[in-house]
Amino acid sequence: EDAPPTFRPPHPAIDFHVHAISGRARYATVHLRHGPVSTPVFMPVGTKGTLKGLTTTDVARCEALDNRIILANTYHLALQPGTELIRDHRAGNDGGCGGLHEFMGWDRNILTDSGGFQMVSLLKLAEITEEGVTFENPFGDDDDDAAGDDDDDDDDDGGVADDEGDGRDRDDETGRKRHHCSSSRVETSKSRRMLLRPEDSIHHQNNIGSDIMMALDDVVSSVADDPTRFRIATYRTLRWLDRCFYAHRRPNDQNLFPIVQGGLDTSPGGLRDICLAGFRLRDDKAPGYAIGGLAGGESKDDFWKVVDHCCRALPDKKPRYLMGVGYPLDLVVCTALGVDMYDCVYPTRTARFGVALVEGEAPGTLRLKGHDCAEDYRVIMDGCKCAACYDGNGDGGGYTRARLHAMLKNDNPLAVSLVTHHNLAYMMSLNRRMRAAIKEDAYGDFAKSFIREQYRGKD
Ligand code: GUN
Ligand code: ZN
Repeated sequence: EDAPPTFRPPHPAIDFHVHAISGRARYATVHLRHGPVSTPVFMPVGTKGTLKGLTTTDVARCEALDNRIILANTYHLALQPGTELIRDHRAGNDGGCGGLHEFMGWDRNILTDSGGFQMVSLLKLAEITEEGVTFENPFGDDDDDAAGDDDDDDDDDGGVADDEGDGRDRDDETGRKRHHCSSSRVETSKSRRMLLRPEDSIHHQNNIGSDIMMALDDVVSSVADDPTRFRIATYRTLRWLDRCFYAHRRPNDQNLFPIVQGGLDTSPGGLRDICLAGFRLRDDKAPGYAIGGLAGGESKDDFWKVVDHCCRALPDKKPRYLMGVGYPLDLVVCTALGVDMYDCVYPTRTARFGVALVEGEAPGTLRLKGHDCAEDYRVIMDGCKCAACYDGNGDGGGYTRARLHAMLKNDNPLAVSLVTHHNLAYMMSLNRRMRAAIKEDAYGDFAKSFIREQYRGKD
């Protein structure tokens, strides 16, 4: 192996400008190699380099979406189609630079998660040692069906607690069952043990060419009852971070973010502090930071306490990314605590179950499969400019709830695409309203009225 390239501080592949602050909420721009990203930002999850049901053009060019950064998963891409293939992918004959941007035909930014978390949360078969994460590859080598072209392959958020009563629980269960089936099927044929070390994760992410890469972290479920395991994971995350930084071959093109771990321990000198103090020693190497190990079923109170604690300790001049968080309400609250970036499968996954995110209906979701939509002739959300709500020429139109209801009842994939489109447009518009409120130094009022609205009709 070559020696790592010399590091040119301070981080040539990122520039972070804070434009306005309201309380502790920030409105900023993160400049990356593939263009500027205004924050707070929600990053949709395209697990394998595609947002299900949407074309790249939908995601980028539709004005209502206009996403500037999406998330992909190293674990899935390494299994299929493989990161060497992605690295060498050349679209057209213009001798492009390869990587996932070309593979997807996406010239905006990409963030990749490091893979270990997906393996641990998705496959109960993973085992973590000091060397890395070991797992049974349930997909074998060339089984192009099992690697998950079905509906549930991005069930890897580990962060969507089933407590929102939005009707996803039954469907989730079906998803899990199907997963079991496919893994038992291949166990008899091509399964083999695989090891993902910090060096492997970085190598894959260098091949992928993502604008933001994540360090391989040792994630423990936030509700695990094992203090020793949390302690080991916290220190191991620091040791793995050093291995990640050392293995990183493209620091001048790609940003590598450390991920704060440490369970729910926010006591002075506790595990979160130990992790944060370790990061302070390595701060010159980190272009930004993520907060991990949350949204795994802990109480809202614990969740907010950890986010608050980490935001206060992390440097103000670098972006803060809260992993796996994507309920609109959580975005609004955590932005008030100083978070800049979010990702979650929730808006896209819930769309596949016919659930639309809306304003003005408690608790902020609309179950299009429900009886009360069968004869509802309104669009999902008045004034929304998405492909479902708006026909593009300003004279009303769009798909009524009744029509979407009928289409969903018929398992029409177009309906799922339309609701996905709507939910992403909703998230983007929420981000825009958050940024506008920060700009006017009125974020506190915005957050209060948003929260009041979401709890309307609930107790
Ligand atoms: N996605 C959601 N939470 C986490 C986490 O703690 N670590 C990683 N790597 N990904 C996540
Ligand atoms: Zn809409």
